[in-house]
Amino acid sequence: MKMKVIKVEDNNALSTKAANIVCEVLKKESRPVLGLATGSTPKKMYEFLVERYRKGEISFKDTITFNLDEYVGLAPTDSFSYRYYMEKHLFQHVDINKENVYIPDGLAKDLSKECEAFERAIDKVGPIHLQILGVGLNGHIGFNEPGTSFKSRTHVAKLEESTRQVNSRFFNSIDEVPKEALTMGIGTIMEAEEIVLLVQGEHKAEILEKIVYGDVTEEVPASVLQTHPNAYVITDIDI
Ligand code: GLP
Repeated sequence: MKMKVIKVEDNNALSTKAANIVCEVLKKESRPVLGLATGSTPKKMYEFLVERYRKGEISFKDTITFNLDEYVGLAPTDSFSYRYYMEKHLFQHVDINKENVYIPDGLAKDLSKECEAFERAIDKVGPIHLQILGVGLNGHIGFNEPGTSFKSRTHVAKLEESTRQVNSRFFNSIDEVPKEALTMGIGTIMEAEEIVLLVQGEHKAEILEKIVYGDVTEEVPASVLQTHPNAYVITDIDI
């Protein structure tokens, strides 16, 4: 085994474990810097974090967050945007200072400038202490599709048709799924001090096997994590 794998029973256990790891960083760092992900996988982790905030166990007062990605062309108020997702599942429920929330702006007039500004913002406060990641069925992290350079920085990414198809479950129809997104690059992601990849559900068994045991190749973006000194997987899949 090349990458550390923490096997848990189910989604509940996965989310508890992930929330605990986030809480540790919040308690340890005076100014925690988190890298956050969207998608169905981390939803319950956010729910647990909100619960723990409500119990007074944690605060986000001094936390700075960077989200991995955002669709091009969707407004923050659009219920399919990742900004909307983050507000709904975390930010509106906790004491985070909105000025410390960074999500690439998919409506920016100049998208490459937006990507540069995002990189500069990370540089200013980084490194990211803890990066939470999910993974796509094709091994993508953020929206870094197979073939993306491991050295890539935040950029405009073209979505694979298979990704649009998979993600269409969150939209009314496939036609509504944007064809492009802004995403933190793989090189950017790899600069985080600690990276936790959350992989939930049997349908991801095949890709997880490749990520953990397969070759490190740009064809399987998440396989790059094998080369990170402090990256590991939490999964409910028997591997
Ligand atoms: C999207 C996001 C990824 C996410 C992936 C998996 O494509 N861009 O950041 O990790 O989906 O999502 P899910 O957790 O819903 O399987």
